[in-house]
Amino acid sequence: MPGPPQNPHDLDRHDLSGVLATINDEVRERFGEGKVADYIPALAEVPLDRFGMALVTREGAVFEAGDARERFSIQSISKVFTLTMAMEAVGDDLWKRVDREPSGDPFNSLIQLELEKGIPRNPFMNAGALVTADVILSHVDEAERTLLEFMRARSGNPEVRTSEAIARSERESGFRNVAVANFIRSYGNLHNDVDAVLDFYYSQCSLLMDCVDVARSVQYLAQRGWCGISGTRVISEESATRINSLMMTAGTYDAAGDFAFYVGLPAKSGVAGGIAAVVPNVMGICVWSPGLDEKGNSQLGRYALHRFTRMTGLSVF
Ligand code: DON
Repeated sequence: MPGPPQNPHDLDRHDLSGVLATINDEVRERFGEGKVADYIPALAEVPLDRFGMALVTREGAVFEAGDARERFSIQSISKVFTLTMAMEAVGDDLWKRVDREPSGDPFNSLIQLELEKGIPRNPFMNAGALVTADVILSHVDEAERTLLEFMRARSGNPEVRTSEAIARSERESGFRNVAVANFIRSYGNLHNDVDAVLDFYYSQCSLLMDCVDVARSVQYLAQRGWCGISGTRVISEESATRINSLMMTAGTYDAAGDFAFYVGLPAKSGVAGGIAAVVPNVMGICVWSPGLDEKGNSQLGRYALHRFTRMTGLSVF
């Protein structure tokens, strides 16, 4: 039997570059698994044989592997950042309009909305993110530009921008989101013009970033709300803790249980194949590989995170 456990949070114990190299090799053996999100035509064009992974420690050290510098649209990972902005804008009033429970349903589901009278289950389902977008439009001047500046400051990359082509493709194929937004509006839980809410939502989903940008951008969640990249406090310690808890319970939708079981980190996925994860008090992480599993989360990205927490012991459990 092994002796007493060592402290995995002592990063000097780990060969993080070696861990990433091993994961990169293992993932490349499995290229071809999963399916790209073809319900958004612009995402259907991305090849399956891509994998990138980046770690950014709370001291700001960067470790990366594979295609960690190739940009992809962050899609629903953006919901973490708009949630941050909405919590800052209206505080606890946000929770009158969106709940904090796991849904057990797919990201684009409508089914609970009628039973729960237009109050989305959590801010990470599309329904919840549309309410969050509405809150931002009501309370933040020049919402799109402010979000872009927020992302540039969090990532330290002034080149972060929205892909107009992807935003257009989402708008042209977003029939489900149009239905969700109008349904919520019918309950009075959207206050702005439905098209304006959808436009803001598509622009947040179409932000182009790479794994290093995203791992840097969630660093404030690994530092209790302090962003070491810009040297500013973004949110209170309490808010950071709450966002991490929501990522754990709802960040990967109806796979959140499996993520807790196999990975054990707060994580937020996007349908372009990115997953942002946080090791609280230790590091921000991003993995990207476009092939999705049946729940809409990156199949090889999830495998990579699973291997990472198994090899390092760096899960929250
Ligand atoms: O609204 C959509 O369907 C996409 N723009 C984002 C969905 C998404 O990323 C779900 N996450 N896995």
